[in-house]
Amino acid sequence: MGLNYQAVGWNRQKKIYDLTIVGGCVTYLVLFVGLGFIVRPLASAETLIIRGFGTLAFLMLHVVLSIGSLCRLDSRFLPLLYNRRHLGVATFLVGTVHGGFALFQFHALGDVNPLVSVLTSNPNYFSLTHFPFQVLGLAALCVLFLMAATSHDFWLANLTAPTWKALHMLVYVAYGALVLHVGLGVLQAETSLWLAAVLCVGVTWVLGLHLVAGFRERAGDAEGGSPREDGFVDAGLVDEIPDNRARVISLGGERVAVFRYDGKLSAVSSVCQHQNGPLGEGCVVDGFITCPWHGFQYVPETGASPPPFTEKIPTFRVRVAEGRAWVHPTPNPPGTLVEPARIATPEGT
Ligand code: HEM
Ligand code: FES
Repeated sequence: MGLNYQAVGWNRQKKIYDLTIVGGCVTYLVLFVGLGFIVRPLASAETLIIRGFGTLAFLMLHVVLSIGSLCRLDSRFLPLLYNRRHLGVATFLVGTVHGGFALFQFHALGDVNPLVSVLTSNPNYFSLTHFPFQVLGLAALCVLFLMAATSHDFWLANLTAPTWKALHMLVYVAYGALVLHVGLGVLQAETSLWLAAVLCVGVTWVLGLHLVAGFRERAGDAEGGSPREDGFVDAGLVDEIPDNRARVISLGGERVAVFRYDGKLSAVSSVCQHQNGPLGEGCVVDGFITCPWHGFQYVPETGASPPPFTEKIPTFRVRVAEGRAWVHPTPNPPGTLVEPARIATPEGT
């Protein structure tokens, strides 16, 4: 999280994660090319390699896009999330082999630069059945490159979290471009019905999973009641918030986590500055709100990460009255100190 570049630290879990990625990729490619030779004995090795790497990269992108939603639905998927960025970078590398091979195979043998050739050799931009679908693959690859190149936390800190997040949301633009790349490609040359069917299943899976996870998350949030005269909104009974955990309420579309710890309540944004993780599902560890996704921490009273880290989330004013928590819906600027509300003990001391 610091501003100075620090090489990625390798631990046992990261090594196992990366070895699994490499092992999975090699197994897929061997099976794809091996079975390809059996099913289509006339297919050239180049074609099988291009298709093997292309389908693998696309499959990996589906996994990358599914992990966040799966974790929102079931915390047993969290180990997949821990190094999701390694999977993202691996997806870019596999996609580059596919794109590189395709460029070489179809565009490098003339006297025009292959990149220029991709962009200019097929001008049928207004035809559905002859659209230059490779251009969409190239556009997606450029986006994946940007994301892979800025995946280190060094860039997250230097670009600032909102810019970094906006950049990484482009993964959905890349995904859309790739769906068209594959879909429009299928319409050309040999029409592959199975690829079209798999494409439909993939798109339905990604969309469905995002919708289900979104609905589930919202359904779990309590709706903040109508504001009192002083503007504070009812966030429910204090006793229903477990110690060192939070209750998440939705205030004007914003998810706010009301944490109970140490006989006090503090309210902060439920969106982690790291990768939008669900902070309200985390807990207070050693006095710090700790994100369930990668363990980023925040001081409950200020929403600021402990030094030397610099992340900050918005805080909210909070009160306790008649055994209920009350939160003011106007967010304070990230990192603003807010006095926690004291929870009265049963004896009233
Ligand atoms: C420079 C960038 C790219 C170029 C020039 C390119 C080119 C091509 C070409 C020529 C095909 C048709 C292959 C065939 O029918 O034999 C193809 C198919 C495909 N591409 Fe790409 N591509 C690029 C980037 C990507 C990326 C980044 C991905 C995924 C992350 C991808 C995924 C696919 C898939 C899944 C297919 C269908 C495979 C098949 O036909 O069996 N492509 N691409
Ligand atoms: S999203 Fe990564 S630590 Fe919160």
